[in-house]
Amino acid sequence: MYSVSVTAPVNIATLKYWGKRDSVLNLPTNSSISVTLSQDDLKTTTTVSCSDSESYSVDQLYLNGKLESLESLRSQKCLGELRKYRSEMEAKDGSLPRISEWPLRIVSVNNFPTAAGLASSAAGYAAMVYGIARLYRLPLDRSELSKIARQGSGSACRSLYGGFVAWEMGSKKDGTDSRAVQIADVGHWPGIRAAILVVSASKKEVPSTGGMQLTVGSSDLFEYRVKNVVPPRYKEMEQSIIKKNFEKFAELTMRDSNSFHAVCLDSYPPIFYMNDTSKRIVKLINELNKSQGRNVAAYTFDAGPNAVIYYEEKDEHLVLGVLNEFFGHLPGWDKKRSINYSLPDRFPIDL
Ligand code: DP6
Repeated sequence: MYSVSVTAPVNIATLKYWGKRDSVLNLPTNSSISVTLSQDDLKTTTTVSCSDSESYSVDQLYLNGKLESLESLRSQKCLGELRKYRSEMEAKDGSLPRISEWPLRIVSVNNFPTAAGLASSAAGYAAMVYGIARLYRLPLDRSELSKIARQGSGSACRSLYGGFVAWEMGSKKDGTDSRAVQIADVGHWPGIRAAILVVSASKKEVPSTGGMQLTVGSSDLFEYRVKNVVPPRYKEMEQSIIKKNFEKFAELTMRDSNSFHAVCLDSYPPIFYMNDTSKRIVKLINELNKSQGRNVAAYTFDAGPNAVIYYEEKDEHLVLGVLNEFFGHLPGWDKKRSINYSLPDRFPIDL
C-alpha cells in the first residue's frame, strides 16, 4: 500500500468567477482573482492511498466520514488525467510499481461547513488532485496541476497556490492555457487579514454550477459584466495587490461582489444568495468605512449568505470590534479574537 496526506486551503475570490464557456472542460467566461486563506483556519485534509489488496476493490471517497460517489464526470476527469500521467511514467520506466492500476481511497475532512458557500469544493478538489499527484510522484508543477483541479471545480485551481492568485481564463479551445498563476505570495502583503462571518452553515440553495449556467443563459447584465467590467477590473485589482493599495483593493473587491450578486439577481428566475443578515453586513462595512474616511474593510460574498471581510492587520481592533458588536452572536464567531476594541464615534448605527 502507498499513502500520502496533504492539506489544501480555501480561497475566496475578490474578482469572481461566474460563468462557463465550456462546461465539459470547465473553462470560464472571465479570469478571476482570489486570496488564499491561511491553512490554520479553513482547510481540507486529505489522505490518499492505493493498494492491490482485497479491501481496495474500487475507488472510494470518504468526505467528513461519509462514503460519497466518485461517479461524477468532474471526479472521473481528475482521476483519469492523473492516472494517465502515472501510467505514461510507468510505461517509460519499467522499474516503477504499476500503481496506476490500483484502486484509490481518498479520505477527506473539512474543518468548516461543507457546501455552504465557503469554497469547500475548491479546497476539496485541490487537496485531492495534489494528494494523488504526490502519491504518483508526478513531475507536474502547480500550474499544471491547477488545470486538472479546474476540471473538478473551477475555483479549485486557485487553491494550488498561497497568497494572491489569478485564474487566467485562457483563450485556447482545449483549455491548456486556462490555469492558476500566483500574483504575489503571502509574504508580499503579510498584513492582509480575513474574517469569516458564518451567517448560515446550511447547504446553499442553488449550487454554483447550476447557478452560473442559469445566469449565462438568462441574464442581460451578464454579457456586460464579462466584456466591459471584468477585464479592466482584473488589471486594476492585480495592480492594487502589487502596490499593496488596500483602499483600491477594497473598493474593487466590494464592487465585484456587488456585480456578481447583481447578475445573480438579473438571472431568470433570480438567484438570491445574500440574505437580510448579509445585507446588514454590507451596510455596516459601508458605515465603518465612511466613519473612517477610508476603506478599512471590504466585504465579499460567494454563492451563499456568509461574508468574508478583508482588512489590514493595523485595523484589526477596529474592524473586529465593530463586527463583534453587531454580529458577535453569529455561529462560530470567535469572541477571544475580538476583545480590546474601541468603537468609532459614529457608532452605534441602526442596521
Ligand atoms: C461564487 O468553482 O464552485 O465562489 O466550477 O462549477 O465547480 P464549478 O464552480 P465553483 O464556483 C465558484 C463561484 C464563486 C466565485 C469564485 O470562487 O470565483
